[in-house]
Amino acid sequence: MTQDEMKKAAGWAALDYVTPDTIVGVGTGSTVNHFIDALGSVKDQIKGAVSSSEASTTRLEQLGIRIFDLNEVSELAVYVDGADEIDGSMAMIKGGGAALTREKIVAAVADRFICIVDGTKTVDILGSFPLPVEVIPMARAYVARELTRLGGKPVYREGVVTDNGNHILDVHGLQITEPRALEARINAIVGVVTNGLFAERGADVLLIGTPEGVIRKP
Ligand code: 5RP
Repeated sequence: MTQDEMKKAAGWAALDYVTPDTIVGVGTGSTVNHFIDALGSVKDQIKGAVSSSEASTTRLEQLGIRIFDLNEVSELAVYVDGADEIDGSMAMIKGGGAALTREKIVAAVADRFICIVDGTKTVDILGSFPLPVEVIPMARAYVARELTRLGGKPVYREGVVTDNGNHILDVHGLQITEPRALEARINAIVGVVTNGLFAERGADVLLIGTPEGVIRKP
């Protein structure tokens, strides 16, 4: 089974958590693209979606799924998104696709975060995947120095501008044993928009695509 087939299995399994006649929160990435395809198969049974990126919006619209502005929506039953790494406490590193800020905002509104991954994304300790940090462009060098003081090695993701017009620093070399504390610490650096640790608001349900089938946690 290929990695993409594992992603597809997890993406389609997330359909079980979508309630008819609701607006669905939709993340970003190659795993979520499979979920969007699955959502297209039930598009007449849902009201529409709140999207976390321009890329997901385009794919949703191509399937005829109505997009709602988050400001028009007071509640979302579920938010479905992928992750770059997820640990045993359901804390995640996200932002490989540079959509972390909008993802974190939509996830904050949702009652339940359904995380969909392939079997390569589960880890004991977060940090092998470089931690993305979205920064206001003029603060990039300052934030990089502060992240170095925290023990990381920030690398500017050249050529990438987020949907919010900002830059990304990918922080290498972290062993993240206290994800909540580090999430708060990095967010407190002036010039940081948000960081890719999703620990304060982690996942509620994890669906892992594996060659043996989809594993569901809890
Ligand atoms: C985008 C994300 C994605 O969820 C994460 O990068 C996983 O992507 P993929 O499903 O393509 O492996 O956080 O900002």
